[in-house]
Formats: sequence, C-alpha cells, structure tokens
Amino acid sequence: MAKVDKITHVGTNRFGFDSTVDIDVLRSLYLAPAYIKQGEQTKEVTGTGHKDYGSESTYDKDTNSIQYTTVAKFPPVKLLPNAERKRILVTGGAGFVGSHLVDRLMLLGHEVTVLDNFFTGSRTTVSHWVGHPNFEMVRHDVVEPFLIEVDQIYHLACPASPPHYQYNAVKTIKTSFMGTLNMLGLAKRTKARFLITSTSEVYGDPEEHPQREDYWGHVNCIGPRACYDEGKRVAETLTYGYARQDGVDVRVARIFNTFGPRMNPYDGRVVSNFIIQALKGEDMTVYGDGSQTRSFQYVHDLIDGLILLMNGDETRPVNIGNGDEFTILEFAEAVRDIVEKVQKEQGNPLAKRVNIIHKEIPTDDPQRRRPDTSRAKEVLQWQPQWHVRQGVEEMVRYYSAKMAEGAI
Ligand SMILES: NC(=O)c1ccc[n+]([C@@H]2O[C@H](COP(=O)([O-])OP(=O)(O)OC[C@H]3O[C@@H](n4cnc5c(N)ncnc54)[C@H](O)[C@@H]3O)[C@@H](O)[C@H]2O)c1
Repeated sequence: MAKVDKITHVGTNRFGFDSTVDIDVLRSLYLAPAYIKQGEQTKEVTGTGHKDYGSESTYDKDTNSIQYTTVAKFPPVKLLPNAERKRILVTGGAGFVGSHLVDRLMLLGHEVTVLDNFFTGSRTTVSHWVGHPNFEMVRHDVVEPFLIEVDQIYHLACPASPPHYQYNAVKTIKTSFMGTLNMLGLAKRTKARFLITSTSEVYGDPEEHPQREDYWGHVNCIGPRACYDEGKRVAETLTYGYARQDGVDVRVARIFNTFGPRMNPYDGRVVSNFIIQALKGEDMTVYGDGSQTRSFQYVHDLIDGLILLMNGDETRPVNIGNGDEFTILEFAEAVRDIVEKVQKEQGNPLAKRVNIIHKEIPTDDPQRRRPDTSRAKEVLQWQPQWHVRQGVEEMVRYYSAKMAEGAI
C-alpha cells in the first residue's frame, strides 16, 4: 500500500479479515449533508457526502436552532456469516479516533458496543448509528468494571490532548491504569482479543530519531505530561503482564500524531489551529522560523493499521504513524492554499489572503518528531496511503460546515 492520488477505498483484505470500505460511503458519515437556512433560502454547506443515507442537519440562522434528522436510512452494512461476525467493544468509541473505528467496524458488518463517559467525546460523533440493530452505546466510565460478552476489545478510552489530559491529572492516571486493568480483566474472562491504543509519548523527549519500538524512551516521571506518558507506559506494562501471566491475547499500537474530521477544534494541535485560523481569516501563527518539522497521519490510515494489528499475529508493540516530514512553515502554506480552494468552491472566498506570522518558539518545542514504521510495514504490510493534503482538504470541509452551523 503506497500513497495514491485518487482514493476510492480504504481498508485491506489481509489476515482473513476484509476491512475494505468505499470511501464515499464512509465520507457520508462525517461529511453528512449540512444545510443553513435563513429566511426562505436554504444553502448546503458540506458539499460532499452521500445523499442517500446517513443523518442530516439544518441550522436555522433566524431562530439560531439546529434540526437533526436522526431517523435516517442507515448505510448498508455487510451481511457476515455468524462465524465471521464479531462482537466488538470499543472503549472511547465516541472520541475522534474511536468514532472512525466504529464507522468502519459497523460498515464491515460487526456488532459494535461503544463504551464512553463523554469526557472529551460526544454522542454526535456516532449518533448516526443509534437505532441500528448492530449498534449499542453505553455511558460508562472505564475506571469502574464493566461486564459484557465480546470477541474483541479496542481499548481507546483516555483523553489524548494535553489540555484535556492535564485538566485532571489524577483522573488521567486512574483512567490509564484502572481502566486498562478493568478491560484486561474483561478480556481474560471472555477470552477476547485486547488491543490498546498507546502513544508515541511513551518515548518521552526522545534521544533517538526516528523512534523504533525497541527504544525504551526518555520520560520525566514528575512533569506535567507524566500523567499521560507514564499512564500509557504502565498501561502497556499491565497489558504484557496479563499476556504473560494469564495468556490474554494482546495487541499494542503506539500511535503518532493523527488528524482528521471530528478532531476537537480547541485541542491546541497544530493542524486544527492552522485550519481554524485560516477559515476565520485570522493570522496563522508559526512558532520560530517554522523550520522545525512534524509528521501527521490521516485518521483512515490509522484505522487501517489498528484493524490490521487486531486481526494479525503481531503481539509486540507496533508504531503507527506517517513518516512524511513537513516543516511547519510548509505545512501552514499548504493549509492556507487548501482553505482558499475550498472557500472559493463554496462561493465565499476571503477578501484578502491570511498572513502567516511568526512568534517566539516555546523552549520545549521539539525540532523533529518522526516515527519509524518499518515494523508495521514488515509485519502488517501497512503503509499510509493518504497524502497529508488530501486529509487536510477533508478536514477543512468538515470544519467549515461545523463553523457555518455555529458549532465552532
Ligand atoms: N489522536 C492522536 O493523535 C493520538 C495519538 C496517540 C495516541 N492516541 C490514543 O488514541 C486514543 C483515542 O484518542 P483520540 O484522539 O480519539 O482522543 P479523544 O479524546 O477524542 O477520545 C478519547 C475518548 O475516550 C473517552 N474517555 C476518556 N476517559 C474515559 C473514561 N474514564 N471512561 C470512558 N471513556 C473515557 C472520551 O470521552 C473520548 O470519547 C487514546 O487512547 C489516545 O491516547 C491518539
């Protein structure tokens, strides 16, 4: 799988698990038709997405109200024979990554239960599945035990952005440790396969570039990020403890920077910051001269990787990320071009180009961050297939629709 210019499908058919899905059907779920009504006029703002099924929203400017179409025709899901249909639990399934995983697993014909306390996630990310016979949503905190019969557990529940995980550091550690303990206990009892979404942050402030899975990391155990970094490290320790002691079948994904629709616009991440600033016509802020590099992966590539890992045989940790490096300045310029293109297409170009301004670089801003994904390539035959620009364009369309309906 290498990057392709025109993407028609996502997913792979490997390890006896076919995860391919038509991108237009998937798109209809996060770029569902959205309309703005003012007086007699109704204007469509999303511009993409399948019109035959999925939910819709209409924002009424006059009354400042929004109408959701919840009783919709669901997109067709695969009809799997009983032996292939899995009962899958997704903790944190109402979050950014979780909701995309849920969309994919639902379209593939599995029975999906979402477990979420809605701390950073939102019901709206998966509400288009409510009422579907294969779908269930449970409000629950993973810090408390939960009983259910399942075949696979994707354990994602954990706030992922610094403002959110630092909001209540003790709760973040509890979620990482006790939440993972509870879900591993469930996996042990039901003999379910267990996958945890760990993070590149387990490498801390790395002394090796790029980071391979056998690098042990360089983490400050008492710093403000420790609740997340050490939380994930102990969650991995616990995972392999259950594997060695109790024979639980485990998978560990170490995820690097990921972006895409449904990402919280106020997470303070560079991708969302740039897009929101450009869409609002505000100056785009680059710290320092912008020569520091970053790499970003589009969410559909991550979901491909997670599904492959869950269904393959690799039990060691696997990095999942996109190794393409951009300087921050190049990236800001690309975002600005894409925003201009989408705004022009939607008939509302900005009167003047937004400026890219420079501010003093924070002291802890790393110069480089890049994953080594050779293990994923070797054992999962996984490689990102989305160009960053293709992903940014989808995210711009998503944010501009949300902005038009007053949600941002
Ligand atoms: N997005 C990234 O770039 C990235 C990078 C590395 C790792 N990850 C990991 O991927 C997973 C998902 O991240 P995301 O970006 O979707 O974040 P997110 O904040 O959008 O999603 C996390 C979800 O977990 C839920 N949650 C949090 N605490 C919970 C609790 N105690 N009980 C039940 N539900 C709880 C939240 O409500 C939310 O729906 C996390 O485990 C994160 O550490 C993400």
